[in-house]
Amino acid sequence: MATTLEDVGKQVWRGAFLLADFILSSPDMFRGATVLELGAGTGLTSIIMATICKTTFCTDVGADLLSMCKKNVTLNRHLMEAAGGDVRVRQLDWLQHDLCTDADVEFSWTEEEVEDMYNTTEIIIAADVIYDDELTDGLFRTLYRLGSSFSHRCSVFISIEKRMNFTLRHMDVSCDAYNHFSRCLSQLEALQDGRCSFTVQQLPTHFSQFLLYDRTEQLELWKVTSTPTPPERTPPPESACGSSLNAEPPTPHVPIHRSC
Ligand SMILES: C[S@@+](CC[C@H](N)C(=O)[O-])C[C@H]1O[C@@H](n2cnc3c(N)ncnc32)[C@H](O)[C@@H]1O
Repeated sequence: MATTLEDVGKQVWRGAFLLADFILSSPDMFRGATVLELGAGTGLTSIIMATICKTTFCTDVGADLLSMCKKNVTLNRHLMEAAGGDVRVRQLDWLQHDLCTDADVEFSWTEEEVEDMYNTTEIIIAADVIYDDELTDGLFRTLYRLGSSFSHRCSVFISIEKRMNFTLRHMDVSCDAYNHFSRCLSQLEALQDGRCSFTVQQLPTHFSQFLLYDRTEQLELWKVTSTPTPPERTPPPESACGSSLNAEPPTPHVPIHRSC
């Protein structure tokens, strides 16, 4: 099916089905977790996730798309009730540095939600979000920002369909968006900023299929793990011996702004 670029989120892409199958195949990995979905589109993967995990922040951009997504979540509420799963549909734009916390704006975050998301998200999911290099750069900046703000390890699962296109530039079929994605993964893994490190792994896709779609060879699943770098231990000066017992825990860097 053909869709305009701004409406790509209004259909379910094969990557969403693949990721949903992966979730249904490994429920123990997600049980009780707080999950953040990036570029959720219709919300299908978040809805499946919420049949297992505790809280899902289901995010995308644009009031129109987010309204449709929220409607889908409401219509499927009965599927999530058994697990007590909660889906919050919120705006998260990869091209913006901050989360919107202006209460007058639809799909904005409350301060508590921002804190909860930064403190407890151990899983991030993103289905079929690699198709435009500028957006891919924004997505990776978002992943870096989140990973380096967390004080805990986080696993990111990204599904992608390797699409071959004929380009005049190459006068041949190529998969430019996929190649750009590969370069972004390599850069993230090579990054050494002293705040956190990232590892990258391609996962096998021969897990059970619960949903009806064509699981082509071009569908891939990637796992990125972010691990915070432990702070360097410097011994306290003699006179301050024991004072660390009263020390405040380090405040995580949480980029919040009030305006949208
Ligand atoms: C190809 S669709 C995939 C939708 C859904 N995950 C699926 O697989 O069915 C890509 C999604 O990325 C979202 N997106 C595009 N630009 C974005 C941005 N700057 N920030 C957040 N999401 C964005 C789109 O709105 C769309 O929902």
